Amino acid sequence: MTRKLFVTTALPYANANFHIGHIMEYTQADIWVRFQRMMGSEVHFVCADDAHGAPIMISAEKAGKTPQEFVAGIAAGRKQYLDGFHISFDNWSSTDSAENHALSKEIYKSLRANELISVKTIEQFFDPQKSMFLPDRFIKGECPKCGAKDQYGDSCEVCGAVYSPTELHNPFSVLTGATPVLKSSEHYFFRLSDPRCVEFLEQWTQTPGRLQGEVLNKIKEWFTKDEDGNGGLGDWDISRDAPYFGIEIPDAPGKYFYVWLDAPIGYLASLKNYFEKSGRDFDAFMADENTEQVHFIGKDITYFHTLFWPAMLQFSGRKTPNHVFVHGFLTINGGEKMSKSRGTGLDPLKYLSLGMNAEWLRYYLAAKLNSKVEDVDFNPDDFVARVNSDLVGKYINIASRAAGFLSKRFGGQLSADVGVEGNTLLDALRAHKGQILELYETREFGKALREIMLLADRVNEYVDQNKPWELAKLEGKGQVLQDVCTVCIEAFRLLSIYLKPVLPALVAQVENFLQVAPMRFDDADRVLGDHRIGVYEHLMQRVDPKLLEALFEPPAAPKVVPGGEDIAPEIKIDDFTKVDLRVARIVKAELVEGSDKLLRLTLDAGEGRLRNVFSGIRSAYKPEQLEGKLTVMVANLAPRKMKFGVSEGMVLAASDADEKTHPGVFVLEPFPGAVPGMRIR
Ligand code: 2FM
Ligand code: ZN
Repeated sequence: MTRKLFVTTALPYANANFHIGHIMEYTQADIWVRFQRMMGSEVHFVCADDAHGAPIMISAEKAGKTPQEFVAGIAAGRKQYLDGFHISFDNWSSTDSAENHALSKEIYKSLRANELISVKTIEQFFDPQKSMFLPDRFIKGECPKCGAKDQYGDSCEVCGAVYSPTELHNPFSVLTGATPVLKSSEHYFFRLSDPRCVEFLEQWTQTPGRLQGEVLNKIKEWFTKDEDGNGGLGDWDISRDAPYFGIEIPDAPGKYFYVWLDAPIGYLASLKNYFEKSGRDFDAFMADENTEQVHFIGKDITYFHTLFWPAMLQFSGRKTPNHVFVHGFLTINGGEKMSKSRGTGLDPLKYLSLGMNAEWLRYYLAAKLNSKVEDVDFNPDDFVARVNSDLVGKYINIASRAAGFLSKRFGGQLSADVGVEGNTLLDALRAHKGQILELYETREFGKALREIMLLADRVNEYVDQNKPWELAKLEGKGQVLQDVCTVCIEAFRLLSIYLKPVLPALVAQVENFLQVAPMRFDDADRVLGDHRIGVYEHLMQRVDPKLLEALFEPPAAPKVVPGGEDIAPEIKIDDFTKVDLRVARIVKAELVEGSDKLLRLTLDAGEGRLRNVFSGIRSAYKPEQLEGKLTVMVANLAPRKMKFGVSEGMVLAASDADEKTHPGVFVLEPFPGAVPGMRIR
């Protein structure tokens, strides 16, 4: 029976472009999907932008855009990566789609009808200036364990401690620098601790073959209560208060679903969106008990996908995932993991723009991937070696060694029968098909490629033994030459079938060269026989190691164009300390009637009084852009009487003497954490 598969990768946050970690996950899933398609399965492979949440709302605001405009901008940049790396999603949608709004509300209502939603009042940090509750990552302060400064609200990067934001010492809002205050509000919870959920999840997670062993072990820890009865599955806070970019909770004005509630529902929504566009029946497909639902994810989001998500689906009366396949992180040169926020190291677009072949990377990643949750290390020397000696040296080489003779001497005509020795080799290659399929099915891509390369070694040995280049020089050996070259081409075709999930674009060229229809795995069971192939054109270059140097070269610092202003004459430190520079908050900023240059600023430098300062920045800022911000002020400048009033200080701003090349005036702003009155020294 034909398998019906619904496959997804994790939905990426719509606040940044893809980094190489995304490309690795998509490549892993894409290889598996292409393998399934080549087996004749019905596969629907979808993804979407994860559009909601406070961080995206805040990024959008900073960019001066609505959240919708902001995520649309990110979405527009996706195609170049997906096409560039041959990732064959059938659909790309967004969690802000109409389908996702509707499905999220439906699922929530079903959970509520099942009495799995509760309401509790909780206290959380609130930014009084911004009038919003602060997500953990937007609160910083001193670590309660080791005292390290500037640590996030959820964990300390210095000592590794995990805590709640209310435990931080001297907390401040990353958004405004204000000291957050505790404020209570009603939150909605999904009652994961309900015995029905616990019982279901124990059974679901432990179904043999569903999850990887390492994942199961982790889950067992999450289930376990300690001696004091702490731990175990806790209820999950699924609501956030306005302002929030998300989906409104039915019958709860001003409350939105926490982004992680509607994100996985986005899997279903993207499939639904795809089915509606292509005239298929989504409900029927999802109700079909033969439909297999498979999610590829990174290890950091296992909890969401193996506990919350299956429980949400189960208790809203839906199909639960058949598999959640978890992978590790990508590290570069044994180094740091590629984190979501610091996607540095190997920029996928730079890779493409250097003209590097996407299938080198697909091949290399596949060679390192297995079914475990292990991290994968990208090592440039290893990359060059594997691509050049295996992919090009062993596989591509087979075609280039045989094709020329066939086209020059025989017009591309293959021998209908190649004789015993040739058939023995080809049969051996075919005999490994079952094993290779099993390795693809179980995501043991590295092992699959090793098997395939061992087969390529055997073909190359055959070439070395039969020496077509010598046969070509001998009289009366035409038939033998044609037979040997036919064996090579047939072997190359078999290897190409085996490699096709990893190298789809290359194998499309191979199909064109062989003059055959798009190949599936059952094409390995037949022979080309009496067939004429096309003219061979070189299929793949070797990697020039210089490309890897270029790839990892840090981006050149922007060139400083001299503004034509010389550095001022040297001063002594005493001269500098004469200038009293202070952090000040811009409490108010107003237009000045009768002046098109000035803004009137009301500054608080922590003196218990406010100062009035005129500043020539009207062309650069609207008053509302400045209000609430911190800046730097010269606090001991003699007051100056101006046409519009007395100016009691000066705000620091940067500008270039060469207005034409570098136009603009830029007010200085201290890093988060500074407070009004601090002296700059
Ligand atoms: O961790 C992340 O990048 C999330 N945006 C993944 C969401 S996966 C799914 F639940 F949508
Ligand atoms: Zn610490």
